[in-house]
Amino acid sequence: MAAPLGGMGAPHRPVLLEETLKFLAPERGGLFVDCTVGLGGHSEAILKSSQNTRVLGMDLDPAALAYTKERLAPFGDRFHAFQANFRAINAVLQQANERDPNGILVDLGVSSLQFDSPERGFSFRFDAPLDMRMDPTRGDTAADLLQQLPESEIARIIFEYGEERHSRRIARRIVECREQGKPITTTTELADLVRQATGGHKRNQIHPATRTFQALRIAVNHELEGLGEFVESAVDLLIPEGRFVGISFHSLEDRILKRELKKLSGHCECPPRLPVCACGAREVVEVLTRRPVAPGSLEIDENPRARSAKLRACRKL
Ligand SMILES: C[S@@+](CC[C@H](N)C(=O)[O-])C[C@H]1O[C@@H](n2cnc3c(N)ncnc32)[C@H](O)[C@@H]1O
Repeated sequence: MAAPLGGMGAPHRPVLLEETLKFLAPERGGLFVDCTVGLGGHSEAILKSSQNTRVLGMDLDPAALAYTKERLAPFGDRFHAFQANFRAINAVLQQANERDPNGILVDLGVSSLQFDSPERGFSFRFDAPLDMRMDPTRGDTAADLLQQLPESEIARIIFEYGEERHSRRIARRIVECREQGKPITTTTELADLVRQATGGHKRNQIHPATRTFQALRIAVNHELEGLGEFVESAVDLLIPEGRFVGISFHSLEDRILKRELKKLSGHCECPPRLPVCACGAREVVEVLTRRPVAPGSLEIDENPRARSAKLRACRKL
């Protein structure tokens, strides 16, 4: 079993691990659901925290699951994994004949296995087909989206999910290419196009294609859709005193986690003149993170990919 590498050739390390364990408190024992098990870093630490913990792991990515099942095999039947979208958490628990989790973790975004596998097409560091699907067996690839979507939709995706100010110019070039019968189908073609459309790479700045690649990945995998509803279902599944921990890497994801936890702690967002609450606020959790928890400089030095991580947590009442 080859060890997948994290950024800069460092071994894979789970982001905000100590903080995650502090809020999940797995030493209490019981069932923990790792909704994005990836390479199993967080799950392994949960399993090690007590002989009485069990972990049910989920991931969209069959390659990550195959690796992690083997890696966590020494924990025997304390670990089970399912290929599933975490939005189907209710159905997966039923299928596993499990209920009443003590903790639920979601560590959003892309894994180092995905990012560092050239053929997956997540990174412009390698020349590869522009795929970017977390589950490579279904759905449209990034190349499909660039071939099919109207120019205005491509521009919207790049602007909203990538916060790229040159989004319209990039979308125009993509559509020009496909109109000339030369659609963008590889990582290198897209990275070169973005570089040309944005005027190139300035020293000490991130690669100009970073934002566009992030935006397309979010669109390909529908990463923001149903995230709020998922948080609500996860909290409903927890036992009293159970914990929910969410780690995000994008401001839009963090905004959704923040808003959902606020609503579930009873904070009503309705205008004061409404006679009854219509936003669905109910007081079922205590938010444990007044501000999002971010990695310290030591963690960022060791794992630069952690730099944009933010953790939010709550306790079920
Ligand atoms: C940042 S990695 C998780 C890393 C993991 N915590 C570890 O320690 O190895 C995110 C993982 O979430 C998975 N993922 C993303 N969206 C998902 C979804 N909607 N349902 C299930 N898994 C998802 C990805 O395939 C990826 O493996």
